[in-house]
Amino acid sequence: MTTTLGLSLTGRRVVFAGGGAVAARRVGRFLDEGALVTVVAPALGDAMRAHVDAGRVTWVARGIREADVTDAWFVHAATAVASVDAAVAAWCERARVFCVNASDGAHGTARLTAETRSGDVIVAVASDAGVDPRRSARLRDAIGAALRDGTLPLRRRRRAAGRVDLVGGGPGPADLMTIRGRRLLAEADVVVADRLGPIDVLSDLDPDVEIIDVGKAPGHHPVPQEEINALLVAHAKAGKRVVRLKGGDPFVFGRGGEEVAACLAAGIPVEVVPGLTSVVSVPQAAGIPVTHRGTAAGLHVTIGQGPVSPATRAALADATITTVVLMGVAALPKLVAAALGAGAPADRPVAIIERGHTPTQRTTRTTLANAVTDAASAGVSNPAVIVIGDVAAAGLLLPDAAVIAGSGDPSR
Ligand SMILES: C[S@@+](CC[C@H](N)C(=O)[O-])C[C@H]1O[C@@H](n2cnc3c(N)ncnc32)[C@H](O)[C@@H]1O
Repeated sequence: MTTTLGLSLTGRRVVFAGGGAVAARRVGRFLDEGALVTVVAPALGDAMRAHVDAGRVTWVARGIREADVTDAWFVHAATAVASVDAAVAAWCERARVFCVNASDGAHGTARLTAETRSGDVIVAVASDAGVDPRRSARLRDAIGAALRDGTLPLRRRRRAAGRVDLVGGGPGPADLMTIRGRRLLAEADVVVADRLGPIDVLSDLDPDVEIIDVGKAPGHHPVPQEEINALLVAHAKAGKRVVRLKGGDPFVFGRGGEEVAACLAAGIPVEVVPGLTSVVSVPQAAGIPVTHRGTAAGLHVTIGQGPVSPATRAALADATITTVVLMGVAALPKLVAAALGAGAPADRPVAIIERGHTPTQRTTRTTLANAVTDAASAGVSNPAVIVIGDVAAAGLLLPDAAVIAGSGDPSR
């Protein structure tokens, strides 16, 4: 029979008898934990030698003796000689030190589990009836996959200190979120969500997770930014794990910096999880690379609000720079006038990609000369990303760009 326990070996002596490949493969978890590892072996394999050379493991260059194990907290016997491993296990038994016997796992006093981690949760798989490492590893991997897709109940049931995580949700589809973002969502008590981004994932959350919609559209901010900041701080101060789920990347035109500053000013722990920004991922969904060897060597990113800056005028005038505009539909006439005024040719390609990475994605391809009338006659609306530059030309990558697999955008 086996009982699984979580051992804390930080700062404690762990002895490895044998320094071959098996020992080297297994020593990592002890080192990660901060154990003081000594390997006793007449010779070392390359991998264990690398640990010794890096100063992570102490090497005693001789055969193992009984005195080596008596003051250890834990011993791993993998000398490749079954009788020596058995002797080490017997010495450990006498000294009441737990021991993994790698040549006869079923009869050691300890077994290594197959582990997977998700944040501060560790799931360990062990077998009660002898060892079957492949089965344990496969089961571990299956559990790990479920943990990563954020569908297991990861929320804390005991109140701890509150915190805020700004999670970049990417352009929309749940499978374009990061694994870390999914995990933090699965751990959240409160989610403060935008209108854009992977809102479908919200329906997977526990019914008692509080979801606060602060969705913004250009010119329409139902919840002012100061109020969003205050909401984050108030819920975290009440001991809640708060996820601020944002479209794209939190630090790209998302006011994420202000939210982080508000949390820090209130003494709330806060972290930022990057997301795929629409600056790159939405053009990509339409088959447009924002840089392309021989066509565009640089990228200028701006927004539609406010006057057109000198930097944007310079980028628009430069044939080697791609200009990407967010929140720019209403600003199209102003941008076109600035580009033409800065000397850009009237036939410079323009692409407007609406609702990128969603089933209703649509791309309007045009030129500076026709952009305003084409956008108006197509009824282009937000959310949209505007790409100005030669990379926006239809057929840049392939004569028939529609054959590029990806978003299913029929207008491409
Ligand atoms: C407030 S900004 C946030 C940008 C975001 N932080 C990012 O990194 O993508 C919102 C703008 O991003 C663009 N946007 C975001 N997601 C989009 C999508 N799926 N399709 C088209 N445009 C999108 C639009 O220009 C929209 O008006």
